[in-house]
Amino acid sequence: MKNSRYTFYFILLLSFGLLSCNSTNKTYQIESPNHNNILTFSLTEKGEPQYNLSHNGKTVIKPSFLGIEFEDVKAMTSGFEVLNVEKNTVNTNWEQPWGEFKTITDNHNELIVHLKETKGNNRLVNLVFRVFNDGLGFRYAFPKQDNLNKVKISNEITEFTFPFDNDVWWIPVHAENSYYESFYRKTPISKTDTINTPATFETKDSLFVAIHEANLTDFASMTLLKTNNNQYESNLVPWADGVKVYAETPFSTPWRTIIVGDTPGDLVTSTLMLNLNEPSKIDDVSWIEPSKYIGIWWGMHLEKYTWGQGEKHGATTENTKHYIDFAAKNGLDGVLVEGWNVGWDGDWTADGTAFSFTQSYPDFDLEEISKYAAKNNVRLIGHHETAGASKHYENQLEDAFALYNKLGVNAVKTGYVNKFLDKKEWHDGQYGVRHYRKVIETAAKYHIMIDNHEPVKGTGLQRTYPNLMTQEGGRGQEYNAWSADGGNTPEHTTVMPFTRMLSGPFDFTPGNFNFDYKTPNNAMVQTTLAKQLALYVVIFSPLQMASDLPENYEGKPEFEFIKEVPSIWSDTKVLDSKIGDYTTIVRKDWDGDNWYLGSITNKEPRNLKVDLSFLNANKKYTAIIYADGDVANYKLNPYPVNISKQTVDNQTVLDLKLAAGGGTAIKFTPIM
Ligand code: NOJ
Repeated sequence: MKNSRYTFYFILLLSFGLLSCNSTNKTYQIESPNHNNILTFSLTEKGEPQYNLSHNGKTVIKPSFLGIEFEDVKAMTSGFEVLNVEKNTVNTNWEQPWGEFKTITDNHNELIVHLKETKGNNRLVNLVFRVFNDGLGFRYAFPKQDNLNKVKISNEITEFTFPFDNDVWWIPVHAENSYYESFYRKTPISKTDTINTPATFETKDSLFVAIHEANLTDFASMTLLKTNNNQYESNLVPWADGVKVYAETPFSTPWRTIIVGDTPGDLVTSTLMLNLNEPSKIDDVSWIEPSKYIGIWWGMHLEKYTWGQGEKHGATTENTKHYIDFAAKNGLDGVLVEGWNVGWDGDWTADGTAFSFTQSYPDFDLEEISKYAAKNNVRLIGHHETAGASKHYENQLEDAFALYNKLGVNAVKTGYVNKFLDKKEWHDGQYGVRHYRKVIETAAKYHIMIDNHEPVKGTGLQRTYPNLMTQEGGRGQEYNAWSADGGNTPEHTTVMPFTRMLSGPFDFTPGNFNFDYKTPNNAMVQTTLAKQLALYVVIFSPLQMASDLPENYEGKPEFEFIKEVPSIWSDTKVLDSKIGDYTTIVRKDWDGDNWYLGSITNKEPRNLKVDLSFLNANKKYTAIIYADGDVANYKLNPYPVNISKQTVDNQTVLDLKLAAGGGTAIKFTPIM
C-alpha cells in the first residue's frame, strides 16, 4: 500500500492566463498521460464554471455546468474569476493488501482551478480535475474562509451532458428498495428519471462510459437526475429535513468519476475509483484475511431453519459444530452464523431495537463454539443484523466488537434490512454514510473485517480501510429463495460486472448446487451448476461464500472447484463480452501462477472462442474444465457438468459451449 518504485510529482503554480490555450475565454486543458482523454475547463461570460471531456476525439461530455447551492446563503454557481491554476503529474505504483490486481498504477495529470467570486463576499472554491488513461475524476474543494464557514448544501448542480441520447444501464433510486437491490435495465437516457450510480452508458459512437463517485466521506451519495434527453445533474440524497449535506469549511466533495473505455472490459479493469481514494489508514494489515466461508444462512432463506427461537432454530451449538466440521474437512476458512443473538423473535425487520449484539440465545454457546472453531482452524464469522436501528447498534458497537475480538472472530457481516435507518434517514444520505464509516473504523480498531449488507454503495473506501472487505448492494443469490418475481434472471449476472461491480466487491454468495428446493414464491436459481462455478471468477469478493447447504456439496466432484478457487487476484482481464449477453473474465491467483476463467451467458446458449494468449508464453498448462453438459439447460436440467482435462498454452484457442443460462469455469495450472 505504500508508494513504490517511482514517483514523479511536480507542481507548476501558474498564474491566470499563463496556462494552456486561451486567456480571453479562460479555457484550460489537461490530457491523460496517454493523450486519449482531454479535459477542458472554462468560465462562461457570466463566470459560470464548465467542463467537458473527450476521448480520442469523440465528445464524451459536452460543456456542463458545475456549482453548489446552499440553504441560506447565495449559490456558488456563477460570478467567478480564475485566481490561478496548478498543474501536477503523478506516476506511481501502489500495492493492495488484496484485490483484483496486486499492483495499481496511479498515473494522472491534475488541474486545480482556484476560483474566486468577483463580487459580494469573494468566496473561494477550488475545482480539482484528475485525468487518467481510464477516465476523469473531479471534485469541489472549499478552503477555510471567513465568508463561508458552516453550510447546508441544498443542491449540487454538477451536470453530465452527453452529445446523444445514449443507452444507459441503470437502477432506480429508492423506488424499489433503499439498497440497490434492483435489476439493471437498459434504456435511452430519455426514458430514465433519477438513477443510481454506477450508471453505465453504451454511447452512440461506441464508447463505454460509467458515471460514479469515489471516496464518499461525510457527504451524501450522488444520484443522477435526468434534466433533458442527453443530460443528468447530480442529485444528492437528502436528510429527512431536506438538507443535502451539512458541512464546514475546509471540506471537499467526493470525486465525481467518469470512466471511459472502448470495450465493456475497460470499465471492469479501471482503477480510477481506487486511485481517487486515500491510502490505507490501517498500518498493520496482517489480520486482514481474504477467505471463503459457508454459513447457517441459505437454510433460513429456504425456511428450513429460522433466525428466531423455536424448533427450527438454525443457530444452535450442535448445528454450528456440524458446519465447522464441514468447513474444516473442506478447507473453507469461515462459518457465518445468523440468528445467534437475542432479538430475532417475531417480525425482526420491523424495528431492530430488540437486538443484542453481545447476548446469545440459550441454545447457542458462543464461547464453546469459538473454541471449537479455533481447534478446527476455522473462524466463526459474526453477524450483526440491525434492521436499520443504527443508533441502537452504535450504542453497542464497542462492546460487540470487543466481544468478538476476544473470541477470535475477525469478520462480521452487518445488515440493515429496513427502508430507513432509524426510521427516517436514507442508507445513502450523509446520515448513513457517517454511520457506516463509524462501523468500519470501530471494526478496524478491534481487528475485524466487515461484510456489509444493505449498505451505501461502494466508492473505493477499501483502499483506505482494507477491512471493508465486501458489500451487498445488489440482488444477490438470496433472491433465488424468496423473490416474488421468481429470482434473478440469467441475464442479471452478465450485467453485474459492468454496473454494480464497478463500485467494488459484491457478496453475491454464489455456489448453489441443489436446484430441487421449493419455496412459497417458486423462486429458483436460474443458472446451470457450471455457471455457479464460473461466478466465483466473474464476481469478485475477497470474502467469498459457498452458499448452499453442506449436504448439497457432499460427494460432488464440482465442489473441488469451489475449494480451490482463490478469492483474491494478482491480475484480471476481461475477454470478449457483451453487457447483458455474456462475459468471460480471467484472473490470476494472488499467490502463484494459476489462472482461472469464468465465462457466463444469459438465457441464450452460446459458443465462444477463447484465446488463451493471456497465459505465460513460456509455459504449458493443465486446464481443468468444468463445462455445461450436453443436455444442460437452466430451466430443464441445470445439473450436468462435464469435467475434462486438457493441455494448453498461450497459442490455444478454446471452444466453449455455454448452455442456456450456463457457464464454464476453468483452472489453469502451469506444468512444471
Ligand atoms: C439480508 C441479507 O442480505 C441476508 O444475507 C441476511 O441473511 C438477512 N438480511 C438477515 O440478516
